[in-house]
This record gives sequence, C-alpha cells and structure tokens, in this order.
Amino acid sequence: MREKTILVTGGAGYIGSVCTELLLSRGYHVIVLDNLQTGHRKAVHPKAEFVKGNIGNKSLLGRLFNGNSIRAVIHFAAETLVTAANTRPQSYLANNLVQGIHLLDSMLKYGCRQIVFSSTAAVYGEPNDVPIEETHDTKPLNAYGDSKLMFEKILTHYGNAYGMKSIVFRYFNAAGCTENYGELHNPETHLLPLVLHVPLRQSDYINVFGDDYDTRDGTCIRDYVHVSDIANAHLLALERMKDLSNAIYNLGNGTGFTVKEVIATAERISQSTIPVRIKSRRAGDPAKLVASAAKARDQLGWNPICSDLESIVESSWLWHLRHKDGYD
Ligand SMILES: NC(=O)c1ccc[n+]([C@@H]2O[C@H](COP(=O)([O-])OP(=O)(O)OC[C@H]3O[C@@H](n4cnc5c(N)ncnc54)[C@H](O)[C@@H]3O)[C@@H](O)[C@H]2O)c1
Repeated sequence: MREKTILVTGGAGYIGSVCTELLLSRGYHVIVLDNLQTGHRKAVHPKAEFVKGNIGNKSLLGRLFNGNSIRAVIHFAAETLVTAANTRPQSYLANNLVQGIHLLDSMLKYGCRQIVFSSTAAVYGEPNDVPIEETHDTKPLNAYGDSKLMFEKILTHYGNAYGMKSIVFRYFNAAGCTENYGELHNPETHLLPLVLHVPLRQSDYINVFGDDYDTRDGTCIRDYVHVSDIANAHLLALERMKDLSNAIYNLGNGTGFTVKEVIATAERISQSTIPVRIKSRRAGDPAKLVASAAKARDQLGWNPICSDLESIVESSWLWHLRHKDGYD
C-alpha cells in the first residue's frame, strides 16, 4: 500500500492531465479514473495507473478503494460544454451530480474523506461586482453552472454530516499548456485554442462576439489562468486539506484580458495575421468576468507564476505546433 495515492477523476482531460503530471513529479502515486468520453488515453501520463471507467460505477469504485489506500480524490471529471448543457440538461445533471454522488458515497464507504473539486466561475452567473469574490451571489445561467453549484452544496452537507473534507476551486478560464499536455476539446469552445486554429491553418478566421462592450477595446474581458498554476493550487489543497475544510476558492489572475488582446498576442507569437469576424453579442455574455483570488493567495499561499498572457499564449502555441493532430 502506498501512502500518497491520489485518485484523479477526469485525468485524461485537459486540466486533469496537467495536474497528474505535477502530482507524479512530487512523488504522489496517481490513479486516473476516466471514461474517455472527452478525454484522451495518450493524455494520461505513462507513470499514472489508468483505469477506464465511470465515476458513478460503484463496483469499480469499490475495487479501486478496496485495493488501494487512496488518501484523497481530485475530482475533475464532468461534462463541461456550457451551451450543450442547456439543450441536454439531463446528461449534465446525471453526470456531474448523480454520478458525483455515487463517487462521494463510495469514498465514505471505504473511508476516504478528502476531495478537491473543480467548480467554475459559471456559478456566479452575471456578476454585480468585479473582481468577483467568493461571497458574491451565485445565480448560474445554465445547467452546467447549476450542476457545479449543487455539487458544491452537497459537499457542504457531506462535510457537516459525515466529516468529508473538501476544497472547492472555482476556476475562471484555464489556458496554456505544459510541454507534454495541452488543451484539446472536441468541439473546442475556448477562445485561445480557437484563435490558434487560424495560424495552425485549421480555420480561416476567428469569430468575435461583440465589439461594443463597455471595456477598453469593446471586446469582453475574461480572466485566464495558466493550467500549471491551477494544478499547483491542487497540490496546495492536498497539503492544507487537514486544516482547511469546506473551503471555496476562486482561481483567477485578477486582471483579465480582452478578446482583442488575446488575438493580438497570438498574432505576435505565431507571427501570423489572424482575421477576425465581428458577430453580434451572445446572450448571457457579461462584459467583464474577473476573479478576486485574494482568498486563495492568503489562505493557501497560492502564487500564480505563469498566468501572464505572454506565457499562456506561448506555451499553448508551442504545444499546438507539436500536436497538430492532437494526441495522435
Ligand atoms: N477548462 C476550463 O477552463 C474550466 C473552467 C472551469 C471549470 N472547469 C472544470 O474543470 C474540470 C476539468 O475541465 P477540462 O477542461 O479539463 O475538461 P475535459 O473535458 O478536458 O476533462 C474532463 C474529463 O472527464 C472525463 N469524464 C467526464 N465524465 C466522466 C465520467 N462520468 N466518468 C469518468 N470520466 C469522465 C472526460 O473523459 C475527460 O477526460 C471540469 O470539471 C470542468 O467543469 C474547467
């Protein structure tokens, strides 16, 4: 039995693959549980133990918890496409909530009482104040955000009633790549990889939804955090879990970049021109979504070191250049 075994759900996905890589480098033994519905087998680090399966499969979970001394679970697995969540809420609620509860129940049954959970800025909906603090009202605008908020509440109940310790991270926009692992969703909906598709010759232009917002250049401002900084927060959470429990932290860089700034940086780094098509605003897209991450800095000692736009875009560009065909 190994003492430092962590179960990473969704470890074949974007953020999970980077976090697994970091945990392994710090001497943890990692078991990745992923059904590969959006993940990639080759995104699982060769030193991790890979189990293909569902987070709601109780007999599989029983075997995993019985056969390994799992200290904590880092729970990334989820359905994540915001627009699809409104047309297929059943699937989102079944996966992100119901199966998540099966995971929690198996953890309790086998005495594993520590979980780090990936939540999202989508729990806030349209903000009244920016930068957004964790105490801001939560009014999700879609089933995805609702499923995450409901799971946060379930964690609170499991903490109060059964002693489950949880740390919840509300990520803003994860971006950037490491040398080996990167952002690869299908369909891709995130701005930076979509922008890079143009210099990679995978699309001819980038759509920009609205250039008449009340921002410095008229385009929306979003808060991008390097995926390595996000992974590092998870490491801190594992180390501090015994003192901090049922805690919720925003992970963002606190400043935010406009869509045009992201495109201009991508043009400079890829040394290409990226044609833009201006479209009308999308419903439910606020002008500015920026986190206050003061709580994570103060309590966890989280110090994002590569979340400047240059590092984010450059790391992403280099990874995508080396992975034009994805992980194949
Ligand atoms: N990427 C972002 O900017 C962002 C922002 C906010 C929150 N999040 C959250 O972070 C987490 C990871 O996001 P990501 O971008 O890496 O997504 P991803 O789609 O790349 O990874 C999710 C992984 O979970 C797996 N999975 C899904 N349902 C499963 C199930 N029932 N059983 C087993 N495996 C399952 C998928 O196969 C995939 O490998 C998600 O919970 C997401 O909601 C991401």
